[in-house]
Amino acid sequence: MKQFLEIKSVTAGYDGHVAISNISIKLELGKFHVIMGPNGGGKTTLIRAIAGLISYDGKIIVENVDIKKYRKKNSIGYLAQRGAQFYDFPLSALEVVEMGRYRFKETNHAKKEKSFEFLKEVRMASHAGVPIANLSGGQQQRVLIARALATESKLMLMDEPLTGMDPRTQSEFYEMLEHLKREHSLTVIISSHDVGFTTAYAENVFCINKCLVPHSEAVKLLEEPEITKLYGPNICLTKHYHTSSEEEDESEGEDA
Ligand SMILES: Nc1ncnc2c1ncn2[C@@H]1O[C@H](COP(=O)(O)OP(=O)(O)OP(=O)(O)O)[C@@H](O)[C@H]1O
Ligand SMILES: [Mg+2]
Repeated sequence: MKQFLEIKSVTAGYDGHVAISNISIKLELGKFHVIMGPNGGGKTTLIRAIAGLISYDGKIIVENVDIKKYRKKNSIGYLAQRGAQFYDFPLSALEVVEMGRYRFKETNHAKKEKSFEFLKEVRMASHAGVPIANLSGGQQQRVLIARALATESKLMLMDEPLTGMDPRTQSEFYEMLEHLKREHSLTVIISSHDVGFTTAYAENVFCINKCLVPHSEAVKLLEEPEITKLYGPNICLTKHYHTSSEEEDESEGEDA
């Protein structure tokens, strides 16, 4: 395993309340890692600690250097959990994506062109000139995904990126991430509640409920005792299928 990121005994919280306690995980380079866990389990807190948005005890190491040092030279792609963003500012979708490229020394024209490519990837090119405040919640989310991708960071942190996305956009998002991950050796960490969909793509799943809840392979998560440990006894798993994009076009509005 080629290690990319190591979380070493990380404890973090808010105003004396411990939200995550003594988390230690090693994450492999170029893989798709998914954090699962119940509401309030600490997924956002861990992602925010990695992103450098909150202080913590313990260490986070990326490519053998402390993440605090790593961040001085490298950007980290970050998408906050929906609801945490503020949209009331006069920028178009394209300009929001351009914000992701602040570290690049490139002409304005190149910046716009590159940002437009990322808008295309999330199927928002036709809304490039629309103010972000005038987009729907799902469309805003797609623009913010494009902004995170536009940083071209080796590490992508996305906190429940698919909240409010329709099924077609969800599969396209995973396909796009797969493609980018392969092309650019991205290491992706996302948090999600979507057990079936996410684990189909995930290469590593780890579960936190204040502490790390250990389990072996992603597929094992689907076995009931693991799910019960995380979400309580009243959970029931429903087998479901995802149709292809063409099929979905014909059956728009149906559950996947
Ligand atoms: N800004 C904050 N101030 C005080 N407490 C907070 C704050 N943010 C989170 N918490 C608390 O920290 C704990 C972990 O919250 P966190 O948001 O990390 O959970 P989560 O796993 O992301 O949940 P969800 O699935 O609902 O997004 C919860 O008990 C929560 O109430
Ligand atoms: Mg959260």
